[in-house]
Amino acid sequence: MPNVVIVGIQWGDEGKGKVVDVLTPGMAAVVRFQGGNNAGHTLVVNGEKVILHLVPSGILRDNCMSVVGNGVVVDPRVLLSELDGLRERGVDVGPKKLMISTRAHVILPYHDVLDRLRESHAGLGKIGTTGRGIGPAYEDKAARRGVRMSDLLDPARLRALLSDYIGPKNRIIHEWYKGDPVDLDDVLNEYLDLGERLRPNIGDTVALIHGMQDRGESILFEGAQGTFLDVDHGTYPYVTSSNTVAGAACAGSGVGPTAIQEVIGIAKAYCTRVGSGPFPTEVHGVTGDSLREIGREYGSTTGRPRRCGWFDGPAAHYAARMNGLTRVALMKLDVLTGLNAIPVCVGYEGHKGMPEAMDHLVPEYEMLPGWSEDIRGMTSFADLPANARAYVQRLEKLIGVPIDLVSTGPEREATIAGGFFARS
Ligand code: GDP
Ligand code: IMO
Ligand code: MG
Repeated sequence: MPNVVIVGIQWGDEGKGKVVDVLTPGMAAVVRFQGGNNAGHTLVVNGEKVILHLVPSGILRDNCMSVVGNGVVVDPRVLLSELDGLRERGVDVGPKKLMISTRAHVILPYHDVLDRLRESHAGLGKIGTTGRGIGPAYEDKAARRGVRMSDLLDPARLRALLSDYIGPKNRIIHEWYKGDPVDLDDVLNEYLDLGERLRPNIGDTVALIHGMQDRGESILFEGAQGTFLDVDHGTYPYVTSSNTVAGAACAGSGVGPTAIQEVIGIAKAYCTRVGSGPFPTEVHGVTGDSLREIGREYGSTTGRPRRCGWFDGPAAHYAARMNGLTRVALMKLDVLTGLNAIPVCVGYEGHKGMPEAMDHLVPEYEMLPGWSEDIRGMTSFADLPANARAYVQRLEKLIGVPIDLVSTGPEREATIAGGFFARS
């Protein structure tokens, strides 16, 4: 198996977790390379639903290493509670199954507090973040005042760092936002304890990955969020604080671009977005509500209702270039069953291709005929109703990249695997 990157090509929640889970049997490792516990990746295995926020989606498979790479921001409290939940299910999360980079930055209590205070004080500029401290942690990383996982294992160093950092943070929290300051000793003691608990799982993940490469083992790089939430290429400022595109897999894990052979883009058969910002094909009213209810479009991390809309062809085509996609997995086709006609965006009024900014775009729709047969759980493309097949084929043409997987339900088995997926 080649090395593969999986990325969302819309606004996140496309179904990346399911596809990673489907692909892991051939993989030695699954590596998260950016984002943090703003992500919520859902796996449905043997009728049970598992939502992972920080732990890579390969963890349920034996013989597959899960790696939290240097590009991820880690909230150790969340990670430990996720590990406790997995242990309760009988999943091995020891160092042979999970390693976290010494270089990954730590989300500290003042990051969460600042994220929430900023959002609650923002007027029109409210981003609708997940409130998990992601932005403030990446800010500190770029400003070179971050705390890394290795620092949690060194009491003197952690005390020195926090002594420098907490004072200025508390001034902003307390004097500017009138929030409650955080206490140095409380944070120090709690985070040293968290570090000790995670010690066996913290290590040099770059060396680990390079070792796998030397042995010719296959690695899957699991993206979080989606292309239009990328801090450079998304709908800035309504984005997350990391690069979410496939190119980030290299910097966020410690491999070069030549290490990657396949880039698989994950798209829903329609679109959703959580939080504020442009969404050209958004539908309001009864139709939007019914997509949300049928697709169960409520955030895996925050439970917020997701905004829903139609498939956006030009955006998907642009994302294909942005990520260098070699294949696409099309998710949640079953959700569209029962519609008489399905609008698909094939352009924007007054524009050719994809404009630089997504604000104020008016979509041009093509109406594709719907189907009424229940397709949930189907595993063969030939069994799909003719209109469903035609829908997939039209989307494939708009994206310009082969659709090698069609998903017909949340379960592992509800998958039509063709091309690359059938071979892997
Ligand atoms: P991720 O963040 O990209 O991993 O996606 P999420 O887990 O946040 O959201 C995708 C949701 O859709 C989850 O609840 C999945 O269980 C569900 N899902 C994935 N594929 C399908 C599908 O083909 N059909 C249906 N109905 N649900 C799906
Ligand atoms: P997965 O990996 C969907 C959105 C938030 C908000 C913006 C910034 O499950 O697809 P942040 O907390 O990152 O500063 O919030 O990004 N967002 C996501 N939306 N899926 C995600 O992850 C997301 N992670 C962040 O809703 O609009
Ligand atoms: Mg999600």
